[in-house]
Amino acid sequence: MSNASSIRCLITAGPTREFIDPVRFISNPSTGKMGFALAEAAVDAGWTVDLVAGPVGLEEPDGAILYPVVTAEEMYHQVDALFDACDILIMTAAVSDFRPIKSFDRKQKKEDASLTIECERTIDILKTVTERKVHQTVVGFAAETNDVESYARQKLESKRLDWIVANEVGTSGAGFAADTNEVLLIGADGSFKQIGPASKNAIAIELISVFAQR
Ligand code: CTP
Repeated sequence: MSNASSIRCLITAGPTREFIDPVRFISNPSTGKMGFALAEAAVDAGWTVDLVAGPVGLEEPDGAILYPVVTAEEMYHQVDALFDACDILIMTAAVSDFRPIKSFDRKQKKEDASLTIECERTIDILKTVTERKVHQTVVGFAAETNDVESYARQKLESKRLDWIVANEVGTSGAGFAADTNEVLLIGADGSFKQIGPASKNAIAIELISVFAQR
């Protein structure tokens, strides 16, 4: 990468929602805090920032260009449209892995019997766009409840990433919704760094400074 002002950074954040009907959806507890903190840190580093965000209750970061999306499909189309122009993709979004095969236009009335929803996989956004990467640096996130490092390394390789940021979810003070986090930054070049425990803002600043050195 060259000087700071010419770096274009694409960040995804937050959850996606996959609708069963207009009032029900499949999603996850992601709040988007880590992605928004990274967007702020990247703007402060002088980068141009495109921020593709699922439904979150956060204020638009000053200086970033925000692209709101709802579903994994919408997030994919937005990332796909912005990827070729970016120098670095940082994929913090907690993309829903499954969506209902059928989504109803009208609210489904509940019946006495239990409900079975048949789901299909959503597209793997990171893996799909990385297949055509040329000059881009690509960073993935891995949220794991166990065997954090080994699962993260598998994702680093299978998604052809330059870095993966791994964190344990389900522990207090880390992961979804928390203001603090503790992450492992693992590089395809063999680098390994533990960052935190610290605020998500402090971790974001540290991550951006590592990526900037590349
Ligand atoms: N990701 C993606 N598209 C998906 C699912 C995940 O782009 N449909 C991205 C996430 O944004 C993250 C990385 O892939 O940067 C790893 O996501 P994670 O949910 O930890 O892993 P999965 O690939 O979904 O695998 P699993 O759920 O089996 O752990």
